[in-house]
Amino acid sequence: MTAVVDDGNLDISNHDSFAGGVPHKTFERLRREDPVHWTPEHDGGRGFWSLTRRADILAANGNNKVFSSAQGIRIEDQSHEEYMARRTFQETDPPEHRLTRKMLNPAFSKVAVASYEEMITELAVDIVDKALTLDEFDGVEQIAKQLPMLMLGRILGLPREDLDWLVSKGDALIGNTDPDFAQVLVDKVDTSEYRLMPFRSPAGVELYDYAEAIMKGEKAIDPDGLLRKILDQNEADAVMDERGFKNFFCLLVAAGNDTTRYSIAMALYQLAKNPALLAQLREGEVWNTAADEFIRVASPTMHFRRTATEDVEMGGKHIKKGDKVLLWFVSGNRDEEVFEDPFAVKLDRVATNHVAFGQGGVHVCLGMWLARMELKVLLKVLADKVEKFDLLSEPTWTRSNFICGVKKLPLRAHLRT
Ligand code: HEM
Repeated sequence: MTAVVDDGNLDISNHDSFAGGVPHKTFERLRREDPVHWTPEHDGGRGFWSLTRRADILAANGNNKVFSSAQGIRIEDQSHEEYMARRTFQETDPPEHRLTRKMLNPAFSKVAVASYEEMITELAVDIVDKALTLDEFDGVEQIAKQLPMLMLGRILGLPREDLDWLVSKGDALIGNTDPDFAQVLVDKVDTSEYRLMPFRSPAGVELYDYAEAIMKGEKAIDPDGLLRKILDQNEADAVMDERGFKNFFCLLVAAGNDTTRYSIAMALYQLAKNPALLAQLREGEVWNTAADEFIRVASPTMHFRRTATEDVEMGGKHIKKGDKVLLWFVSGNRDEEVFEDPFAVKLDRVATNHVAFGQGGVHVCLGMWLARMELKVLLKVLADKVEKFDLLSEPTWTRSNFICGVKKLPLRAHLRT
């Protein structure tokens, strides 16, 4: 597939526009000239608004009465039946959203995640050591993919031997527009057969079966793992029904893996392009900001959608009740009004005012402390062991206007002596 050239005017409804990486020139122009932008959809969709400046993104994200998640959170138009069949708590508004979120928060809190640091470090050392035995390696496959997968498996209590399969299914869900991840491409073929499955994907059927086996006790999971706790707690509180649990399981397998993977991959890419960053990491003064800066630069979940529940003015535009409104976190994170020299990687930048985790909204990422911790630990291990990386070729990127990720990153490492 040949990536289209970003001349600042690309169609952001088209996945091909993202196949060569984020079309930053287009978002830069939109922020400057038309920050609340209307995009028609040519495949029968209703069209959507794009919020490209951080201030507008925060304003909409903080106002879920007007900008609701309860009619879908991706561009796709769903019938009520499809929405009800596929939704998780991410596709609900308060007060409904609060019930599930409250049940899940403790396990993913900053304090809970701090207790995982030793386990994450052990895994990270092992992963990096294995990769460094190879003369050349794919930074995504050998490093970036491994830590989130193994860590989530441990936390949830899933069998190690199932993790590669689970992650490949999660990738097929989220990568439902990329031929490297999915055979059934949602924008290329008729997917009505899977319209009640997560991401309209056949992988959803397989993950549903797996989740069902867990619920029926046919698939052994760690009795001390989080999934067991959630199931027990859910039995007591009846927060999720059977379908709700299956959808939640799919969400965790997908969201808990690829986003962190792509943030790590972006960090590796930046470190390879600029070895001075590795040296700076070694000096040790940027640990508390470096992970967030790489996550800002990566912004793997490029947008989530809301739906206007009433007519509202924004940036001089009239958004009508029922219109789809996309919060482009990836654009807000390059907003020149907020970030000085936004395309530069500055490890000491206090980047916690980025919006990559959907900050400012009730749906702010459940796994953000885990993702930050994984990045931080891995960066420490890499800085300790690697003098510099050679970038053997430019990375390849996901074909998706939803998730931006490095798919392949061929590297050679020079070890520290
Ligand atoms: C760098 C890594 C990550 C990024 C950039 C990221 C991004 C996001 C964003 C932007 C949202 C907000 C969605 C919205 O506004 O509708 C979100 C929500 C969520 N994330 Fe993450 N995520 C990351 C890692 C993780 C991990 C590791 C997990 C699980 C272990 C996770 C699980 C979730 C869940 C369950 C939600 C829904 C929360 C809710 O609706 O209340 N994420 N994430």
